[in-house]
Amino acid sequence: MSTPSLFDFFVPCPRGLEAALAAEIAEIAAAHVGGAPFVAGAQVPGGVHFQGGWAAGMAANLHSRIASRVLLKIAQRAYRSEQDVYALALEQSWERWFAATQTLRVDITAIKSPLKSLEFTTLRVKDAICDRLRDKTGARPSIDTAQPDVRVFAFLTATECTLYLDTSGEPLFKRGWRLDKGAAPLRENLAAGILRLTGWAPGTPLYDPMCGSGTFLAEAAQIALGVAPGAERRFGFEKLKQYDITAWQGLKVAALDAKRAARTRRDALAIYGSDISGDMLEKARANLERAGVPSLWLKQLDARAMTPPSDAPGVIIANPPYGERIEVRGRGPRGDTRETGRNRGNDDAFRRTHVDAPDGEFFIALGDALKQRFAGWHAFLLTSDRSLPGQLRLRESAKTPLYNGALECRLFRFDLVAGSVKSKAGASAE
Ligand SMILES: C[S@@+](CC[C@H](N)C(=O)[O-])C[C@H]1O[C@@H](n2cnc3c(N)ncnc32)[C@H](O)[C@@H]1O
Repeated sequence: MSTPSLFDFFVPCPRGLEAALAAEIAEIAAAHVGGAPFVAGAQVPGGVHFQGGWAAGMAANLHSRIASRVLLKIAQRAYRSEQDVYALALEQSWERWFAATQTLRVDITAIKSPLKSLEFTTLRVKDAICDRLRDKTGARPSIDTAQPDVRVFAFLTATECTLYLDTSGEPLFKRGWRLDKGAAPLRENLAAGILRLTGWAPGTPLYDPMCGSGTFLAEAAQIALGVAPGAERRFGFEKLKQYDITAWQGLKVAALDAKRAARTRRDALAIYGSDISGDMLEKARANLERAGVPSLWLKQLDARAMTPPSDAPGVIIANPPYGERIEVRGRGPRGDTRETGRNRGNDDAFRRTHVDAPDGEFFIALGDALKQRFAGWHAFLLTSDRSLPGQLRLRESAKTPLYNGALECRLFRFDLVAGSVKSKAGASAE
């Protein structure tokens, strides 16, 4: 069978970012695979379809900041039983893509599937692939769920089964620069998607006053510097038999050159971060260094005492401590940056062991800081707490549902102009 020039790709992303991802994929195709075939496809809940050659698939892996993976569609057919799924997987020419000496992992996602056991169906897909390879090559691949060479994804709806070969390997939010995690870091692709939703553009001041391990800062700085998110990492497609190695070398060399050039940039990026925790700022510094970002303005500061870090107004972006996941620090007088009691210098102690009421005093003071000192700025706060605007005593101008892993969140937008103060404190939950 001859290699088709156009492949069908599906690119999953955090829910709520599908439109942002579709726009990003189209930009990547225009910028990095000029002239090569690329056809934008449908947006569906949880991802985006597109058609393109290998170059488009590789460029999406290397350059997409929002995608979770890039999956290559192998087959799709109606099914009614596990046996139908087995038969579909058995018919595919897996030997074209990988060898029996490589290790394999199979995952299944299902929405409204009538099948009783997804574990059993996963085993049937795995059996079919192994049976096919043994039939064609005389050997069966071994299974490795931790670090497989090759990953196959099956997606089941009520009536249809789609088989995908993963071209990413490790999920794409793993950029390779994060070694130091905070207690509740944001996934890199969610942070990048949020940056796009805010409409922020390089050159406009960007400030994260609760920056933690620096995810928003690193993503924003890489955007400003034109550093590809995947410049330093490996991808699943590098282990597949069929991929365009010449095109890949071209894409990768250009990305590494851009990253090297970024390190020498001396112009100020107007990206600022602060956090009450010195430990977190150390982690942010180390992460930014590995992300190839020249040094940024980073300060240890209670967010209630923050003042604009730039003369021109810009964008504030943060995910404040979540009631469920992490504790607000600095309950002392406003501006007190000491770490007290059980929080002192210990990030494990920093995790909540129980769910408390939100820290009302902190959010009232944070709202005051925004209202009184940040007129002209636009603040975007990601939280799972829908009563945040009421707690801040600010009226949101927009709220966007987003998922941080399994946690349903809202991205609240506050346009900080005179009169944005709520007349009466109260939650504005939906
Ligand atoms: C949910 S985490 C933010 C995670 C961050 N976006 C990241 O990717 O690592 C909340 C952050 O708020 C910080 N924080 C808690 N109380 C604070 C306060 N009063 N002032 C400033 N930062 C505070 C914590 O130290 C923590 O880093």
